Amino acid sequence: MRIDIITVSPELIKSPFEHSMIKRAIDKKLVQVHFHNLRDYGIGSYKKLDDMPFGGGAGMVLMIEPIDKCISELQAQRKYDEIIYMTPDAKTLNQATANFLSLKENIIILAGHYKGVDQRVRDKFITKEISIGDYVLTGGELAAAVLCDAIIRLIPGVLGDEQSALTDSFQDNLLSPPVYTRPAEYNGLKVPEVLLSGNFKKIDDWRSEKAFERTKNIRPDLLDE
Ligand code: ADE
Repeated sequence: MRIDIITVSPELIKSPFEHSMIKRAIDKKLVQVHFHNLRDYGIGSYKKLDDMPFGGGAGMVLMIEPIDKCISELQAQRKYDEIIYMTPDAKTLNQATANFLSLKENIIILAGHYKGVDQRVRDKFITKEISIGDYVLTGGELAAAVLCDAIIRLIPGVLGDEQSALTDSFQDNLLSPPVYTRPAEYNGLKVPEVLLSGNFKKIDDWRSEKAFERTKNIRPDLLDE
């Protein structure tokens, strides 16, 4: 899989790709991530990227031309399955979307900034718009990093234990059950007896029950989906 990220702040987004499992996925060539500084496509000697909104109003708007130049250059080199725009005014990211995108070959992610991008960018280039939650960040970079992390960990071979992505919270619209590790008792705090029983049928049943209970208490909306 190849991910091209278009941003006005490449330095802001690079760090999450330089550590831990995501770094290992890149080192193992399971995924390629390329950063493109939108400023390189800016207009004129000032490399201008944004302008005031037509009709007035607060904030600056990213212009279509630099984004067109950058996306067109990438599209001339390969075919992209999705061109994604990170923005708070979109459907919220969920596990199903991460699963769907993890199966793609080439994707572009555009991190928005300022007041947003000229609507014509969204109309002409963008195939999918994604928000990471109902709150507004200063830019789309952190949102793009969150999306990439959610996608990359699903690529086969990225997680050490192949099973663990399948048993994540949300994979079956349920939150994960509680987990415990050694010691079996700490200052009087005990691990549930069933987990020490060695009876895997009972353990599975207990986990299903706890997952359902947690979902019902914390995220009942998931049970309606
Ligand atoms: N850009 C700013 N806020 C955002 C959000 N919540 N999700 C995605 N992109 C964003």
